[in-house]
Amino acid sequence: MNKQTLPVAIVSHALPDGWLELLENRCEAVIGPPECDHLTERLESHLAEADGLFTLLTIKVDEALLSRAPKLKVISNMAVGFDNIDIEACTARGIPVGNTPGVLTAGTADLTMAILLAAARRLIEAHLDACQGGWKTWSPTGWLGKDLNGATIGIIGSGKIGTAVAERASGFGMQIIFTDPNPKPELAKRLNAQQVDLEELLQLADFVSLHVPLSDQTRHLINEDTLRLMKPTALLINTSRGPIVDQTALIHALKSNLIAGAALDVTDPEPLPVENELFTLKNCLVVPHIGSATWNTRRSMASRACENLLAGLEGRPLPYCVNPEVYQS
Ligand code: DGY
Repeated sequence: MNKQTLPVAIVSHALPDGWLELLENRCEAVIGPPECDHLTERLESHLAEADGLFTLLTIKVDEALLSRAPKLKVISNMAVGFDNIDIEACTARGIPVGNTPGVLTAGTADLTMAILLAAARRLIEAHLDACQGGWKTWSPTGWLGKDLNGATIGIIGSGKIGTAVAERASGFGMQIIFTDPNPKPELAKRLNAQQVDLEELLQLADFVSLHVPLSDQTRHLINEDTLRLMKPTALLINTSRGPIVDQTALIHALKSNLIAGAALDVTDPEPLPVENELFTLKNCLVVPHIGSATWNTRRSMASRACENLLAGLEGRPLPYCVNPEVYQS
């Protein structure tokens, strides 16, 4: 294909060298800046001629955007989550949407354990005290935290990432309980775990870890009522999506010691404004959505997103498609 006839793809963000190499000579990529939470004016001006769109989770793809991009044949999101995209609207227009499952499972599960441990063992507080002269002696009661060994972790959502967290938690000697909309006896057996309902999980768990996608059903799944079911000694860990937790209710629960603490990789909104009350609470750890932030993981996500984009541009089914029903008609 000569350059003139190459399909046009808008790539919302510039990525490090080599991450987009699959696209070379296969499309005419119009690439945005490295950091931006919307499509720049320059990219917007190419929407009318775009055959493909490569996005990050910060780019909202809604009816309004779709109507400015009448030629789109594919949208490829460099993320496993796709709540930034109006899937129904894409499906109605026959546009397949791709995501990047699998490649970020281990990275996100590792980060889940990292923030769980950091909160359980009060790492940030201890580090800051050590830096700021608060380390006076070895105190038998200094910086006491929670044991993982023997504690129960409640995993809400036993998909790929939830399962990988369970595997890691079991290596730390934790008891595993989990929820899932479908009975999963084989998974329970493999993990030596127990499948329970949400209410039971919240009542029994010492650590509650969220691993469900964001949808109308899961928005504010953790709210004033569900927080009340948790043990006052329990910690809430969220590496899925911020709006799964009603943050106002969480702040209240943390301030009133309804639960012992929280460790959040995701918030509502993102980025969380520095003046947000969560940042003032000693029993809350917040990191800036870094679950998949390792070089290998992010590079693999980019490459999977390129595969999806090219498949759509070249009229092949996407290898990782979230709305395969587009192929049924
Ligand atoms: C995803 O891919 O959905 C993650 O949230 C990115 O870390």
